[in-house]
Amino acid sequence: MGALTGKTALVTGSGRGIGRAIAERLGRDGAQVAVHYNGNADAAEETVARVEAAGGTAFAISATMGVPGDAEALWTAFDARADGLDILVNNAGTDGIREPIAGTDEESFDRVFAVNTRAPFFVTKLGVERIRDGGRIVNVSTGLTRGAYAPNLLAYTMTKGAIDVLTSVLAKELGPRGITVNAVAPGAIDTDMNADWLRTDDGWAATAARSPLARVGTPPDVADIVGFLASEDSRWVTGQWIDATGGALL
Ligand SMILES: NC(=O)c1ccc[n+]([C@@H]2O[C@H](COP(=O)([O-])OP(=O)(O)OC[C@H]3O[C@@H](n4cnc5c(N)ncnc54)[C@H](OP(=O)(O)O)[C@@H]3O)[C@@H](O)[C@H]2O)c1
Repeated sequence: MGALTGKTALVTGSGRGIGRAIAERLGRDGAQVAVHYNGNADAAEETVARVEAAGGTAFAISATMGVPGDAEALWTAFDARADGLDILVNNAGTDGIREPIAGTDEESFDRVFAVNTRAPFFVTKLGVERIRDGGRIVNVSTGLTRGAYAPNLLAYTMTKGAIDVLTSVLAKELGPRGITVNAVAPGAIDTDMNADWLRTDDGWAATAARSPLARVGTPPDVADIVGFLASEDSRWVTGQWIDATGGALL
């Protein structure tokens, strides 16, 4: 029996990247996993297949985040397949425009906030109505909210700063129900999101050099932290911002 046997988890944006690794980890631990995706159905089905190949159970649901009614659409799809919720992982996100303040226009600013901040806020609002006492909420933030080393990701970093606040404030409200709320803050992780610069010789070397562990982080590096935060072992940890940068902020 796994640590999460009998639990149901929803991982947004788990067709690819960090979310896929989280879905695989929670599935290995015994949870039934709802694999949410936007448009890449093949990737989501591959995540489901991986969970099942490891002996777990999973199903895919699609909903576009960052548009009116996004949270309702997500939960309608979830409710059709699952009976209640124990673990919510707000992972889906976009890096948006890669410009410092001078190059950031209103449309790009609103777009990245709609996907990264507004959507998880309302997904969580409706998730709180469903999540059982003793549940877990994990929000995927970024090391940039404390590292401030990417001026060209200012708007993106601001979206995640709001997620950090959501994490600590909501932890106070939900604590009496035994529900913990934590944020995981990855440094640069090898995924599609940053492949254009990270998967270059210079980008790879510079990123590895930032960590005392002298390598680039992988999706499972983050997923294993989420696995802990989703488990009973983390019951005394709430409202926290967990550094998942491999020590890059030291
Ligand atoms: N990679 C990093 O270096 C890094 C560092 C710090 C924090 N993060 C955070 O970690 C999370 C995952 O990032 P990642 O690198 O794994 O990204 P990724 O490989 O680009 O995958 C993004 C996932 O989010 C989904 N998604 C994106 N926009 C969406 C939208 N508008 N509506 C619904 N779903 C949407 C995608 O769905 P489809 O597959 O259907 O397109 C995909 O499953 C994000 O919140 C990101 O900000 C990443």
